[in-house]
Amino acid sequence: MRKIKIFDTTLRDGEQSPGCSMNLAEKLKVAACLEKLRVDVIEAGFAIASPGDFASVEAISKAVKDCTVASLARATKGDIDCAWSAVRQAADPRIHLFIATSPLHMEYKLKMKPEDVLTQITEMTAYAKQYVSNVEFSAEDATRSDPEFLAQAVRNAIAAGATVVNIPDTVGYTTPAEMRALIEYLVREVPETAGIELSLHCHNDLGMATANSLAGILGGATQVECTVNGLGERSGNTSMEEVVMALRTRADIYECETRIETTQIYRASKTVYDIIGQTAPLNKPIVGKNAFLHESGIHQHGVLANKKTYEILTPESVGIRVENLVLGKHSGKHAFEAHLKELGYELTQDELLRCFTEFKALCDKKKTINDADLEALVSHNTRAEETEERYKLDWFAVHTTNFTTATATICLRRGEETLQAVSLGDGPIDAAFQAVDDIVKPVEHAFATFTIQSISEGKDTLGDINLKLSALGRTFRGHGLSTDIIEASILAYVEAINRLCAYQNKQEG
Ligand code: KIV
Ligand code: ZN
Repeated sequence: MRKIKIFDTTLRDGEQSPGCSMNLAEKLKVAACLEKLRVDVIEAGFAIASPGDFASVEAISKAVKDCTVASLARATKGDIDCAWSAVRQAADPRIHLFIATSPLHMEYKLKMKPEDVLTQITEMTAYAKQYVSNVEFSAEDATRSDPEFLAQAVRNAIAAGATVVNIPDTVGYTTPAEMRALIEYLVREVPETAGIELSLHCHNDLGMATANSLAGILGGATQVECTVNGLGERSGNTSMEEVVMALRTRADIYECETRIETTQIYRASKTVYDIIGQTAPLNKPIVGKNAFLHESGIHQHGVLANKKTYEILTPESVGIRVENLVLGKHSGKHAFEAHLKELGYELTQDELLRCFTEFKALCDKKKTINDADLEALVSHNTRAEETEERYKLDWFAVHTTNFTTATATICLRRGEETLQAVSLGDGPIDAAFQAVDDIVKPVEHAFATFTIQSISEGKDTLGDINLKLSALGRTFRGHGLSTDIIEASILAYVEAINRLCAYQNKQEG
């Protein structure tokens, strides 16, 4: 079995995509998940991009012990200096530098002659190498580069000390056969690649990122760059969960293995989706709600006779529990804690207490509480929050019919103060949001998304609201959870407004 390294770029390429930005506490939470998952490399960010990025790369470098931590850098001295300052305290730091090698990028973006790009590769790889032995070089837009030129770029990088060379399909343009042929060509033409890691970084613009990565592995690549849930620029990157489970399920073909702890996959996926305020598409491979459901009679019959008829991998292998223990209002704190442990949650005493109080409150509204409810409750009550809660919902009342204008009264608390407003609106949610606006008077903003999902089956299910507001050139997320969807909506809106106000205050100094 060949060993394939998993390089996770959820915190860099993933976080770079619209609506996926995370605060420091959230990034640390994801990094902890990635370490449990046992990825080989965590790309923690692009240190020079902003002071916030620098701080998170540095904090992740200090926190993570069992993975290499990398920072991205353009092939310039300033970027490399900054990347090194951010990762230098990591147990195993890596500088990841890149420059484009395609004619299009060199002429129009870099405005550099090809020979100057080659010189820059040599000089900047050597420059990074002064700081650290673990240096990765990426030839951006490699799949649209002239293969001979690309081979020379790879030779230069290796000669200057690169220990990893990455071949990105930056715009998701290549195909599996082409990717395999390109890697085979590089392995053949640049025998020095035998002494280093040869890496892939595929974008998903044509839906082929996973297929291209797997084909590149067959061609001889030894590292795959990917993200949890396939997050990333535009249509995303290779999904970590897909590539890992494909390698494992079809080990007969790939003859490769990773060190990933696959039972942590579902937890990592859920953590990332919760943080960015999204849920997996129902049919998403491995982590979607339908991935292991068998609805049609023929399939159910087959699965009952023998699971293997329609299941090529088990839900347990990716950390999805099938038997669903039900808790209720008579369940005590010990049963609650023990069950959370079984689900893989390790909570602090404070978090446990908060979750248990919420659990008891939920028991008064909902007869039975299953794993999905518990996961939602724990995730909501253990959020990596940085923004202080300026405004808090105290109480609300709405009146709505299908023949009159809806009215909402809202009472918010700010410290010791209570603030009330009454407003009319086009439906109860509009009226309630309007009343919040009348109290807070936030800057002009628009709704980027507003989604409502049920956590489990049954009419008394928890309503899970995720919304995103756009204002001041950014998006602000809010999340609310309640058996009452109007309450959940107000909670989500107040949270997003708190974030918007905090950002505005920071900007105004
Ligand atoms: O897509 C890409 O080319 C990248 C590189 C910076 C590795 O993200
Ligand atoms: Zn990329």
